[in-house]
Amino acid sequence: MDKLRVGIIGVGWPGQRHIEGYQKNPNAQIVALSDVNTEAAEKVRAEYSVDGARIYGDYREMLESPDVDAVSICTPNFLHGPMAIDALDAGKHVLLEKPLAHNLEEGERIAAKAASSDRALMIAFNNRYRPDSRVLKEQIEAGVLGDIYYAKTGWLRGASIFFLRGWFTQRARSGGGPLIDLGVHMLDLALWFMGNPRPVSVSGSVYHKFTDFMRQTAGNEADVEDLATAFVKLDNGATIVLDASWVSHIEQGDLVYSQLFGTRGGARIDRGGGEDLKITTTAGADATRTTIVHSPKFTSWQAQQPGFQLYESFRAEVADFVDSIRNNRQPGATITHGLDVLRVLDAIYRSAETGREVDLRQSTAADATIQPGEAVAPS
Ligand SMILES: NC(=O)c1ccc[n+]([C@@H]2O[C@H](COP(=O)([O-])OP(=O)(O)OC[C@H]3O[C@@H](n4cnc5c(N)ncnc54)[C@H](O)[C@@H]3O)[C@@H](O)[C@H]2O)c1
Repeated sequence: MDKLRVGIIGVGWPGQRHIEGYQKNPNAQIVALSDVNTEAAEKVRAEYSVDGARIYGDYREMLESPDVDAVSICTPNFLHGPMAIDALDAGKHVLLEKPLAHNLEEGERIAAKAASSDRALMIAFNNRYRPDSRVLKEQIEAGVLGDIYYAKTGWLRGASIFFLRGWFTQRARSGGGPLIDLGVHMLDLALWFMGNPRPVSVSGSVYHKFTDFMRQTAGNEADVEDLATAFVKLDNGATIVLDASWVSHIEQGDLVYSQLFGTRGGARIDRGGGEDLKITTTAGADATRTTIVHSPKFTSWQAQQPGFQLYESFRAEVADFVDSIRNNRQPGATITHGLDVLRVLDAIYRSAETGREVDLRQSTAADATIQPGEAVAPS
């Protein structure tokens, strides 16, 4: 089979990670870059030696090219909907940066289009592809944790590393603050670790305690939350507690964690100064009962490089996307997964507004119509 010919839309930091991912993949070739800032695209083309890639200021012109088989969409959240729909309409496979969309209505529009398309659409939840996440998932599938009935997860930031501006702090274009930016990763990861049970109800609160600080630092409007917290019930009886913050009084710059509670074992991934995966099981009975803590280490030369887990996550995510198209199989993160996450985020904002729990059972039950479109037709 020929190489998958790829175009990148949006050449910011995530766009550049996708570029590196495709460049490391023997079955893909980047043939086009699109960004409204064509100067930035030219700079990126030179910096990453994306030789021969055509540059487009308007992504729709790129979509008209028969030389492009697939696109990575790495643009601001409010552009995900129109761009993904246009790309599917143009017959391109789509790797779409998280979140699926900046609001549920737009997410459902993408899902409806994906359901009627024979092209692949994968949500770029790169945290699933971190080596520590993969190791833990293998252990879960081998039954080491037993049934996971509770997960506690979050991504919190202290005030010292707030650096976001522009569309990120404007709800109309981002869809929200840290919840849709960081919480989206952790919620998807927890659901994936748990085998993707469907969310059935959500109770949440959001806080706007640092709006002035965010406005001043961003230098523009800031009308999104700075902290969100939620309690999510799943259809298998399990629960998730989720926290996300851009600014809070914690001692760390970044505190990122996933803690799983299973019937046979527990596990914790920590990323807050240092990176750590610990899997805890207990063996024996009564007086001889002992707790065993297993901490898998990555010892390769690559694993010693700074940012190994992060950079490797993008390479493996892109590889999964390319492979799923070549082998006509379901990609890792499906539209249903992206939509379930978006439904929970939407419900957290609604619950915060009304002060009530939001019941999701009816909306998730309606998903039978979405599933077929997740099948990938031969490219
Ligand atoms: N997976 C991750 O770890 C990760 C990390 C950061 C951002 N993201 C996601 O990636 C997306 C982009 O984030 P970002 O920080 O790069 O944003 P950004 O504001 O830096 O924009 C990215 C690029 O898109 C370009 N762009 C804007 N409008 C465009 C248009 N109409 N056509 C073509 N290009 C256009 C911009 O010029 C810019 O170069 C967001 O959805 C964000 O949530 C994911």
